[in-house]
Amino acid sequence: MRRIHIGTSGIEASAMTIGTWEMGGGTAWGSWGARDEAEYVKVLHAAPDLGVDFIDTAPVYGTGHSEELIGKALAGRRSKYVISTKCGIHWRDTDGVREYERDGKTAYRNLAAYSIRKDLEDSLRRLQTDYVDLYYTHRQSDDTPVEETMGELLRMKQEGKIRAIGISKSKPAHLEAYLRVGRVDAVQEEFNVLDRAFGGGYLDLCSQHGVIAHCYGSLAKGLLTGRIGADYVPAPGSAQNSVWFRPALRSDILAMLDEFREIAGAYGCSLANLATAWVLSRSPLVTPVIGIRRMESLVDSIKSFDVKLTPDDVSRMDCLAQSLANKAAATSV
Ligand SMILES: NC(=O)c1ccc[n+]([C@@H]2O[C@H](COP(=O)([O-])OP(=O)(O)OC[C@H]3O[C@@H](n4cnc5c(N)ncnc54)[C@H](OP(=O)(O)O)[C@@H]3O)[C@@H](O)[C@H]2O)c1
Repeated sequence: MRRIHIGTSGIEASAMTIGTWEMGGGTAWGSWGARDEAEYVKVLHAAPDLGVDFIDTAPVYGTGHSEELIGKALAGRRSKYVISTKCGIHWRDTDGVREYERDGKTAYRNLAAYSIRKDLEDSLRRLQTDYVDLYYTHRQSDDTPVEETMGELLRMKQEGKIRAIGISKSKPAHLEAYLRVGRVDAVQEEFNVLDRAFGGGYLDLCSQHGVIAHCYGSLAKGLLTGRIGADYVPAPGSAQNSVWFRPALRSDILAMLDEFREIAGAYGCSLANLATAWVLSRSPLVTPVIGIRRMESLVDSIKSFDVKLTPDDVSRMDCLAQSLANKAAATSV
């Protein structure tokens, strides 16, 4: 597994990250397979020996459950892993702007200094650690000046409680505003062959500043793996309720995946490998966060890094995905 440097932080990690929202479970992933926590722990324990030591989580993944699971699984092994988690969305009280209702809890967005400080304390307790390697603001907000949020993050860094700062669900203007106050080493944004917006100007801006693009959703929440059949319907409130999961688009998605399967066949790789290889082809700064709960997914996903797509195959995938996007835009299905 290739190694990356997280910006200029001095932290080195695997180029592949295991995303653990899915392990957190709850209503967001309620309709996506049975829960098997013994298997999740097996994945987390096996990963470093397979070259993968970067783990991504957030307080809201399963409303605390993902961080707690990681805390228990990594107890006594913390130094073998690089952990990213996030601040700015909480459910401990009603301070902030109402974000959403999930798992019977109401989450609020709040990037005020006092609130992200509490977020950090809560995460350190759940993760059973005294430092976070990479700490993200989870979503951006106009309610708190960037100077206040970033000032507090820089204090946390000085105290050794976090080692690097990142921002997520952001726009180029957010990155520029944070960078005016202090060093940002990573952004975390959605990026896959269907959702390509990040690959334009924002990726170039990251490149200019040596900020890593820690991209999630490379498999479009499982859709690009070929595991979603014609009849699959995400449960209400599921993380899979994106435009691409609309039942009316399913036959077009499956037809596109048949073409992708032909391309994958030439590389002897899985559809999941092909989708991740597309993301990797965009820039050496792109480092995917792949949602993984099963050993089978871990072992297979690692193989994505051996697939080097030709420019012709990347263009073919782009064309197929663009036709689908045109169809989705032209219909209100
Ligand atoms: N910053 C943010 O706002 C934000 C938002 C969304 C996600 N994220 C992060 O990104 C992570 C992943 O992104 P995502 O949630 O959008 O999901 P994703 O990575 O697009 O898809 C995840 C699904 O793909 C399946 N999968 C993974 N590797 C596979 C393989 N090789 N073969 C077949 N299936 C495979 C997994 O199945 P199994 O579960 O069965 O292994 C998993 O359920 C999250 O866990 C989270 O850490 C961050």
